[in-house]
Amino acid sequence: MCGIVGYIGEQQAYPILIKGLHRLEYRGYDSAGVSMITSQQALNVYKATGKVSALEEKCSAEDTTGTIGIAHTRWATHGEPNTVNAHPHRSQSGNLSLVHNGIIENYKTLRAMLEKEGYTFHSDTDTEVLVQLIEYTQKSNKCDLFTAVQRALKNVVGAYAIAILEREYPDRIVCARKGSPLVIGVGTDAHGKKEFYIGSDATPIIEYTNQVIYLKDEEIALMTRQSDLPEIINLANVHQTPEMHTLRLSLDELEKGGYPHFMLKEIWEQPNALRTCIRGRIHVQAKDVLLSGIVDHKERFLNARRIIICACGTSWHSALIGKYFIEEAAHIPVEVEYASEFRYRNPVIYPDDIVIAVSQSGETADTLAAIQLAEQKGAFLYGICNVIGSSIARATHSGTYIHVGPEIGVASTKAFTGQVVTLCLLGLAIAKVKRTLSDEMFHTLVDELQTIPDKIQWTLEHNKDIDKFAQMFTYCRNFLFLGRGYNYPVALEGALKLKEISYIHAEGYPAAEMKHGPIALVDEEMPCVFIAPKRGMYDKVVSNIQEIKSRKGKIISVVTEGDKTVSDMSDYTFVIPDTRDCFVPLLAVIPLQLLSYYVATAKGRNVDQPRNLAKSVTVE
Ligand code: F6R
Repeated sequence: MCGIVGYIGEQQAYPILIKGLHRLEYRGYDSAGVSMITSQQALNVYKATGKVSALEEKCSAEDTTGTIGIAHTRWATHGEPNTVNAHPHRSQSGNLSLVHNGIIENYKTLRAMLEKEGYTFHSDTDTEVLVQLIEYTQKSNKCDLFTAVQRALKNVVGAYAIAILEREYPDRIVCARKGSPLVIGVGTDAHGKKEFYIGSDATPIIEYTNQVIYLKDEEIALMTRQSDLPEIINLANVHQTPEMHTLRLSLDELEKGGYPHFMLKEIWEQPNALRTCIRGRIHVQAKDVLLSGIVDHKERFLNARRIIICACGTSWHSALIGKYFIEEAAHIPVEVEYASEFRYRNPVIYPDDIVIAVSQSGETADTLAAIQLAEQKGAFLYGICNVIGSSIARATHSGTYIHVGPEIGVASTKAFTGQVVTLCLLGLAIAKVKRTLSDEMFHTLVDELQTIPDKIQWTLEHNKDIDKFAQMFTYCRNFLFLGRGYNYPVALEGALKLKEISYIHAEGYPAAEMKHGPIALVDEEMPCVFIAPKRGMYDKVVSNIQEIKSRKGKIISVVTEGDKTVSDMSDYTFVIPDTRDCFVPLLAVIPLQLLSYYVATAKGRNVDQPRNLAKSVTVE
């Protein structure tokens, strides 16, 4: 939610800020703004509604000079997306400008206090309250900006990542974080002088430097032109030593690579992404699964009474598949919880429970809060994240990265399959520790899992014509997705993908649940997508298809290559190769991703940045 970029150095800041905003646009894209201090010490602020390109257009007629600046792309929380509410916000005197990601929960109280002190407000945002509060603190304490930010934030309840400029001191930027991510890049310019970059994540920074500092919660950082490293202090007044990390992210991974959209690129990347995810974790000769996150905590997993997985959205769907697999392979009961519900209950947690957070971004506020609650109750925390060094990855005791590379398209695709593969690896590794699978079965599963990347490649190549008939579905108002067993979560995921990018209403159900109500919806205008591989409950799914067909529903099916029965009953079929039941989701989801993509593009939707959504949901 919201993207922040900042720069201080000898280069012109504006091009760096704009490029950074484009890279962060997936985090929010309803309005954008920049602020630079010119060489004449003017603090300019420009804002526009809509995408970053609208801001660029606006700025083309403005003075955008300056070697220090901050910028923001917004996903509205307080106040509608318009230029007044867009960031950066200025302080009353015009001396400060500030960008913010997060939510200030006590902003109304702070605003009332500031109004009494004579401050006036132009926007509906919590952010404007923050910048005024900092200025008020600075004036009433007669202190520098760094100290004022630290003192002001002590009165703030909520989540924030902020970056601030001060007109009178064009040689410094102050930033701070709590609950929302912020990364500082430390680069060296052509003359050997240090320069600093700020980003909500590393994507706007990687082009310039791979040396980064992840600001921790309640830390405030000061970057000046005179220093080689940021000065960092926390809310408790303790100076912190900056911890430098080296990024292993390449610029190529962040670009579209010839595809029209990131989403399509990421769908096609899945074979390679999953090879990387598996690589080094399956020991081919010994036919063993090695996850360091487990090896280091073997006893925990051996004695675990229960696993609770907390996640949201697509990650929740992959967690459901993980539940089925871990229960089957490792014989541990697994509960899958919506993180947003879990965090506000008083869940029963035993000391020998393992709580797993599944999150692509590693920044989802609800998931982070859920594991923080679990930790307070004594649970051991395990993270399954994609973004290296993300908040959830750092908040957990151990974990496994899915290693599928940056996912930029807002609709999750390769992260879903990466999470499922990682959860299967986890299930196998626990099964090995607990000896719950026979050697033969263990080896069969390990062998089969390694064939999945090739089978996904096959699936992609054999379903290329989905784009041709996607046109026919653009007029549909509703869709049903149906599956059983391991394929019930695939039905949920297929429905979520379609609704989020095409805006067609879609629901996923366990196929057998239809007769308990939803079948009333079925008529000749209702497409029903069945995941019907020739495995497990095939005959039962065939009966479910029959029930829909006799109510004139349109049948779209995902079938195993060579299947005739379901194909003959279907209006359209997508083929997948045969695999074991537990790995079918990894193949069956591919045509559903393609279907959503092509229906949405045929409807002219912006698939990479669908309306009202953001990639990283850092607010609750
Ligand atoms: C859907 C989608 C979302 C995310 C959810 C959790 O395509 O991307 O439903 O899965 O917001 O995000 P992470 O996995 O980053 O915690």
